[in-house]
Amino acid sequence: MSKKSVFIVSFLTFSVSIFPQKSIDQKVDALLKKMTIEEKIGQMNQYNDDWTSTGPVTVDNEKAAQIRNGQVGSLLNCLGTARVRSWQKMAMQSRLKIPLLFGQDVIHGFKTTFPIPLAEAASWDLSAIELSARIAAIEASASGINWTFAPMVDIARDPRWGRVMEGAGEDPYLGSRIAYARVKGFQGEKLGSVNSLMACAKHFAAYGAAIGGRDYNSVDMSNRLLWEVYLPPFKAAVDAGVSTIMNSFNDLNGVPATGNKYLQRDILKGKWGFDGFVVSDWGSIGEMINHGNVKDEYEAALSAITAGCDMDMESRCYKNNLEQLVKDKKIDVSLIDDAVRRILRKKFELGLFDDPYRFCNADREKAALNDPEHSKIARQMAEKSIVLLKNENQLLPLSKELKTIAFIGPLVKSLKQNKGFWDIDVPNTDSTFIVSQWQGLQNKVGQSTKLLYAKGCEIEGNDQSGFAKAVETAKQADVVILSIGERRDMSGEAKSRSNITLPGVQEELVRAIMATGKPVVVLINAGRPLVFNYITDSVPAILYTWWLGSEAGNAIADVLFGDYNPSAKLPITFPRSVGQIPIYYSHFNTGRPATNDEDRNYRSAYTDLSIYPNYEFGYGLSYTTYQYSDLKMTAKTMNVNGKIGVSAIITNTGKYAGEEIVQLYIRDKVGSIVRPVKELKDFIKIHLNAGESKTVTFSIDKEKLSFYNQRLEWVAEPGEFDVMIGASSADIRLKDSFELLN
Ligand code: GLC
Repeated sequence: MSKKSVFIVSFLTFSVSIFPQKSIDQKVDALLKKMTIEEKIGQMNQYNDDWTSTGPVTVDNEKAAQIRNGQVGSLLNCLGTARVRSWQKMAMQSRLKIPLLFGQDVIHGFKTTFPIPLAEAASWDLSAIELSARIAAIEASASGINWTFAPMVDIARDPRWGRVMEGAGEDPYLGSRIAYARVKGFQGEKLGSVNSLMACAKHFAAYGAAIGGRDYNSVDMSNRLLWEVYLPPFKAAVDAGVSTIMNSFNDLNGVPATGNKYLQRDILKGKWGFDGFVVSDWGSIGEMINHGNVKDEYEAALSAITAGCDMDMESRCYKNNLEQLVKDKKIDVSLIDDAVRRILRKKFELGLFDDPYRFCNADREKAALNDPEHSKIARQMAEKSIVLLKNENQLLPLSKELKTIAFIGPLVKSLKQNKGFWDIDVPNTDSTFIVSQWQGLQNKVGQSTKLLYAKGCEIEGNDQSGFAKAVETAKQADVVILSIGERRDMSGEAKSRSNITLPGVQEELVRAIMATGKPVVVLINAGRPLVFNYITDSVPAILYTWWLGSEAGNAIADVLFGDYNPSAKLPITFPRSVGQIPIYYSHFNTGRPATNDEDRNYRSAYTDLSIYPNYEFGYGLSYTTYQYSDLKMTAKTMNVNGKIGVSAIITNTGKYAGEEIVQLYIRDKVGSIVRPVKELKDFIKIHLNAGESKTVTFSIDKEKLSFYNQRLEWVAEPGEFDVMIGASSADIRLKDSFELLN
């Protein structure tokens, strides 16, 4: 190294040592000092771009001018490096050159579409779920996006609510584990990598408990239930380092979440120490006027900023009122400074001040959006999400030597339907590169197998004119596969349904095909639990295929022919009737529990309906069978700071290798607050070859025994506890008990 180079390196080393790099907080404070009140408020203002809209649109031709003037902090629904770069260039013309954030609902994949989140939850495969989010982040961040409005972590126990498709189902423990995995997947190990996205846990809070399953409806629950069931996945997201939180449209016990100080300041930023920022949901600040909680936009802005909402998505209440609120001394500017600090800190962490265009590399975009590895991973995720509900006489897996297979139904040849709700059609890309179910079968079978097709009927409508052809087609086949279900946009946002049976005349089509006497396999495609009791009772083989994304056809064919042995288990209870809702496994026992369908007199049961759901939480079959044996506990008593080890042996007693999700449930027999008949407290997914046995072990500590008492204290109370190890919440294979001592 030349003397000159040595000198330069030494000088730089010296200068850094006495003038250490400013910390991000120091950079934020230095920038904040330069900002006018209008520029500060600009950072709290988010607009929709015009690629698409995910809410009621406000026509505004001043966006470009406002961006150049530093009055906008973020855009959403802006896609592609070229378009993002163009908006970012405008932001670089502003006085302080503060870069924009670009947010997008990257819910289950970007260009490569993964199974809907509820389907992925059925895999109980945390590493696969994390990888799915990681691939989505790699693709989206290559297309200019640096913020996803995901994971949605709302616990949901009412399948009439269309957004049940977007979360992880009914259970707070499973939901928390998945929330953690998804945040890690989106954000990567550390924010700031060019292929990481800021994650956003939403919708804070209890949005999934909307009365009647009607989207945007009120939520009314005890604080105890809020803490025990609906908050844990958000806490898990915060523990995972989630960068942002989105508050929810609903009012909670009469206070809209967007203006709810208890939620946003006391719990989130106070008790949990959340240091990211809170964004409102689309227009939710202004919607507090509709709620009747504030008189006008001035009061809406006052309520939201006071309650801890940092950024205003699309309502313009902050832009139009915050400065006046400061002038009127209704709020101190320190509230604005805190919100702006939180937002700027994330922009620094993302590296946007170092390079505002770092997410806008067209070559990287092209490579990331065409990586064949992503489709392979999507196919594996899809296989793991398919739930085998029934397989009478081992009709499945199908033999590849079958001579003729009839594939019938309105979803057989669909492309886009397989993407489900919250898919993204990335501009200028072939986003129809979806493997249809028909194509998947064609890819799978050999020349010796003849495939026949008939649509049979539409998803909706009463037209049965296609039945005759479908029946004729079925009669020519050795096996009939039926693909039926909802339309993909019958679940999702603003898609609540009062009737969750199969739409149209699809059940009639199944009946007509069953009448041929042929062996029938039914695939049910939906974003929510549907009611399909006739099919449950009459069809020999049923697969719940949700919406599986780009690789749907290949994954379904892999399962149909046994190239993947289905391992998924339901993350949500499937009711027999909409009249059973809400129905979930971790219910209280009540004073008059109905223990079976014969004992319903003066019991907590319907007189006209079974007490059992169609399928329970944690249910799912395999092509093989598993034996659970040798439950062992390291002790039968434990102190509150002690632990008890629980182990069991799981043996694959069938002829196919497979994966089994072993579930640990616990019941607190007596509590100062009545306790559920069982609660999921751990699980493990293991691979077993035919004939192979493995020992699974769980550890029970006070955390697994604790609950919120009357005073909202998180306590484990002494007494007897049941320990259950099961293949589902109803299929308990091993049981024992222990005592927690004082
Ligand atoms: C929608 C959804 C929310 C989404 C946002 C932006 O209304 O409620 O989940 O992230 O608007 O698209």
